[in-house]
Amino acid sequence: MNIIECKNLTKEYLSGENTVVALNDVSLEFEKGEFCAITGPSGSGKSTFLHVLSSLENATAGEVIYNGESLKKYNDNQLSILRRRRFGFVFQAYNLVEELTGYENILLPVMLDKKKPDEEYLKKIINILGIEERLSHLPSALSGGQQQRIAIARALANKPSILFADEPTGNLDGKSGREVLSLLKYVSKELGVTLILVTHDLHVAEQADRVIRIEDGSVVSDSKNAEV
Ligand SMILES: Nc1ncnc2c1ncn2[C@@H]1O[C@H](COP(=O)(O)OP(=O)(O)OP(=O)(O)O)[C@@H](O)[C@H]1O
Ligand SMILES: [Mg+2]
Repeated sequence: MNIIECKNLTKEYLSGENTVVALNDVSLEFEKGEFCAITGPSGSGKSTFLHVLSSLENATAGEVIYNGESLKKYNDNQLSILRRRRFGFVFQAYNLVEELTGYENILLPVMLDKKKPDEEYLKKIINILGIEERLSHLPSALSGGQQQRIAIARALANKPSILFADEPTGNLDGKSGREVLSLLKYVSKELGVTLILVTHDLHVAEQADRVIRIEDGSVVSDSKNAEV
């Protein structure tokens, strides 16, 4: 069963007098629970694809279907509720709130949704990510890898069905990057969360179930990795 799909997705940006076609007629389906890497050269449209698929940005044409339902009829408020409840986001920048502790940062999306935290679930994520000892620290007292693990826990706090990640290991050194990636992969498999991850790093893409390559806004290849 597809958790999310897009049909003929196109995104154009106006740049002065010119129109840049960042995404050109992309149609893709994503299965529930799969780990899919999106690769391609700089400027090929990877981030644009992630933003339009996750409704952070509007498409110029085409549509996104989440869980069998077209998002075309959703207004901005409905889209932001959908993102908050069903999607998690991890970016290259950790985007933690500097004044809040690690644990408060993780709880933030749950609080924004005025929900009661599922302590047991949060504990499980925190244990998998190995950040038990870091929960009372402010972000400034954490390493990049630790901050990104807090950001991953925050992205998972609302039990999303899809985790969208854009170069999540881009700011980390090789070793921390590999650790964060394997945790991201493990935690999403463990929780059955679909992982759609943008990377230009082919070693990262190798870890995925499936690799989609985008060039000039179009999908040029889409293949399952033999060994996962
Ligand atoms: N807000 C914007 N306004 C105008 N042009 C944009 C905007 N965002 C992206 N673009 C253009 O769209 C194209 C695709 O950009 P995008 O950021 O999706 O590439 P990318 O594959 O993520 O690149 P990178 O690997 O460098 O992050 C580029 O030509 C870029 O300049
Ligand atoms: Mg990008």
